[in-house]
Amino acid sequence: MAGTGVFSQILDGEVYKYYSDGEWKKSSSGKSVAIINPTTRKTQYKVQACTQEEVNKVMESAKIAQKSWAKTPLWKRAELLHKAAAILKKHKAPIAECLVKEIAKPAKDAVTEVVRSGDLVSYTAEEGVRILGEGKFLVSDSFAGNERTKYCLISKIPLGVVLAIPPFNYPVNLAVSKIGPALVAGNSLVLKPPTQGAVAALHMAHCFHLAGFPKGLISCVTGKGSEIGDFLTMHSGVNCISFTGGDTGIAISKKAGMIPLQMELGGKDACIVLEDADLDLVAANIVKGGFSYSGQRCTAVKVVLVMESVADAVIKKVKAKVAKLTVGPPEDDCDITPVVSESSANFIEGLVMDAKQKGATFCQEYKREGNLIWPLLLDNVRPDMRIAWEEPFGPVLPVIRINSPEEGIHHCNASNFGLQGCVFTKDINKAVLISDAMETGTVQINSAPARGPDHFPFQGLKDSGIGSQGITNSINMMTKIKSTVINLPSSSYTMGNGRSKL
Ligand code: G3H
Repeated sequence: MAGTGVFSQILDGEVYKYYSDGEWKKSSSGKSVAIINPTTRKTQYKVQACTQEEVNKVMESAKIAQKSWAKTPLWKRAELLHKAAAILKKHKAPIAECLVKEIAKPAKDAVTEVVRSGDLVSYTAEEGVRILGEGKFLVSDSFAGNERTKYCLISKIPLGVVLAIPPFNYPVNLAVSKIGPALVAGNSLVLKPPTQGAVAALHMAHCFHLAGFPKGLISCVTGKGSEIGDFLTMHSGVNCISFTGGDTGIAISKKAGMIPLQMELGGKDACIVLEDADLDLVAANIVKGGFSYSGQRCTAVKVVLVMESVADAVIKKVKAKVAKLTVGPPEDDCDITPVVSESSANFIEGLVMDAKQKGATFCQEYKREGNLIWPLLLDNVRPDMRIAWEEPFGPVLPVIRINSPEEGIHHCNASNFGLQGCVFTKDINKAVLISDAMETGTVQINSAPARGPDHFPFQGLKDSGIGSQGITNSINMMTKIKSTVINLPSSSYTMGNGRSKL
């Protein structure tokens, strides 16, 4: 159970502690932040409201700890990450329980998130050993006018302190996707979890504590964005920010100093369906892509662009599948669960009402109870409707009928987002041409968008983000290049035979 057994030291009465300098602490603010259960809409947990002074202390410890961590052999860093991965997987039940209560993630998906996170950390440890154990060696005579008098040894070195800010929808998985690469590369890590999901993240952080990482290397601060949000992202002790979330990321990138940024800021992933597509495959992927975790995934299918000639058939198949989705509490492992907050539900409702007023066809009746919104497919959506462009982050999916693939590509590219997209067709040549034409970081051919497997590159164009994620890219992003140039007194060529005069 959450906050018990090995996790009992992270809880003080009814408030979860924050993690600083290798210890679980109460904030001197004496204040806490309530986490509302999206299903009951009552306070489920409380976390510390950390102060700016406490953030300063965390930054100081992170800076000191990083210096010796960077001198810890790579194999030892990897070994500790493997240990943390095993502990995380061992304690999947209490962490998953937090995900169910804090973010209404269906019970099975909650367990999957924790297991996937353990696997991600293990893979990161292995990949770190592989790619950080290798450098480059350049010689000068490949550049015009140079003799072979300079040898350049190139290696990857850590950045320093990495600030990780994951979103509510994957508070564990998208935290470890930042923590693992940062640590294996020799950085220290300060985690600011989202408020909804903070308790799951604190449990996850405790697994790293149990693994025995040096004190100060990992910290986890909780609190109000208004008090410590900007303070953290603009802190002079931060050498890199990895953020996943909404357009707050745009504001962060404008305020952050001259440091590397990794940002994933959502999407409006288009699903283009051509006439020759396998319509059963299309329907299955639209439902999985559009409605899993109630559409609260940045990679959810967020607009279907279907050729008019097959639109009726696609709608019919999707409707039949939507009718089978179970709706209810996450504890019952329902497909559709309450969205994360009342304000989110209100926003989704606003998009639905705008579409209704402008004449969209409702394939199901619109139904909402509290934060629970029943799955809804909106047909005949037109570009003048907000839902054609905005990201609902809920179980509401617009369908736009198109008369040519070009029309679909045009709609996709007119979006200010460019995360992922997908195209369904049996013609692989056409699929590749469409993929090339779509201005998104990834295009899936004959499958719904998805970030995983977690070692694949993951990146957004335009307002969807900066940089690329995926394990390998994240490790590289959290390092910088260091070169040492050996200047020889005269040209030297490796002959391998004979003797040269020195
Ligand atoms: O919500 C954003 C996530 O990066 C999406 O991940 O494709 O594994 O659901 P996912």
